[in-house]
Amino acid sequence: MDSIKVNQEKCILCGLCADACPTEFITMGNLGPQATGVSCIACGHCVAVCPVEALDNVKAPLGQQLPLEKVPVLDAETAARFLRARRSIRRYKEDAVPREKILQLLDIARFAPTGSNTQGVAYHVIDNADTLRKITSAVIDWMEEQVEKGSPWAPYFAASINKYRKTGQDVILRGAPCLIVAISAKKFLPRGRDNTHFSLAYAELYAPAILLGTCWAGFFEACAASNYQPLINLLSLPEEMAVTGGLMVGYPQFNYKRLVDRNPLQVTWQ
Ligand SMILES: Cc1cc2nc3c(=O)[nH]c(=O)nc-3n(C[C@H](O)[C@H](O)[C@H](O)COP(=O)(O)O)c2cc1C
Repeated sequence: MDSIKVNQEKCILCGLCADACPTEFITMGNLGPQATGVSCIACGHCVAVCPVEALDNVKAPLGQQLPLEKVPVLDAETAARFLRARRSIRRYKEDAVPREKILQLLDIARFAPTGSNTQGVAYHVIDNADTLRKITSAVIDWMEEQVEKGSPWAPYFAASINKYRKTGQDVILRGAPCLIVAISAKKFLPRGRDNTHFSLAYAELYAPAILLGTCWAGFFEACAASNYQPLINLLSLPEEMAVTGGLMVGYPQFNYKRLVDRNPLQVTWQ
């Protein structure tokens, strides 16, 4: 089967599809675009850029790309405030998050960009309170082992361990009713982890639009990445998959009243 289909009656020979192709897969011939390259990464640019719907691509079908009449552009101030208002949420209401809402969140996460459009991120969602408690407990046990081994993180870990042991407060998953565990094929590392982080960033930014709050679960991820067996056993993942990220999700207990501030901007020019 041809990898691209050109409707010759519609094609106006503008060449935008070939220009937009990032891998030189499409080139322009006298009769219009041709698939002459070796690698199509299924990014769909050729189809999306065509002004007359003349091009279809087996790997990025026209029928699956929703029409976009006008690119929605936030004004600069709204966009800046939106991005600077994002905060890590570490206190959640007890309410469960409906699974449809988590799916809505992940259905945006999957649109994040990835190197060469490789994607390769899947999600294992845990919303069972008992399993979440066991995960926190396993991560704390792992942290204790790290402290005993003299890990450079020991002073930081010690405070969390102490609080958990004294109060039982969930210092790992912050009492979130849901943990999104991003997973990628072990053979796809480290790229799978990079791709995961873009996708979770999308989820994090979209979450407030559906009234959710999130926080990255870095301790959890570090523990899983060290292949700590008691934690791995709790996750019941397929053997070939690795944990590449974690995101706590729930309804925030409160809102922040200030925009994020950071270190001063550092830029060099050449
Ligand atoms: C990769 C990554 C891992 C993180 N891991 C944790 C974590 O395990 N626990 C936690 O409470 N916050 C975690 N955070 C949240 C950071 O502490 C937080 O982003 C930072 O302090 C800035 O605060 P803000 O997100 O509210 O702007 C993590 C953030 C990132 C990006």
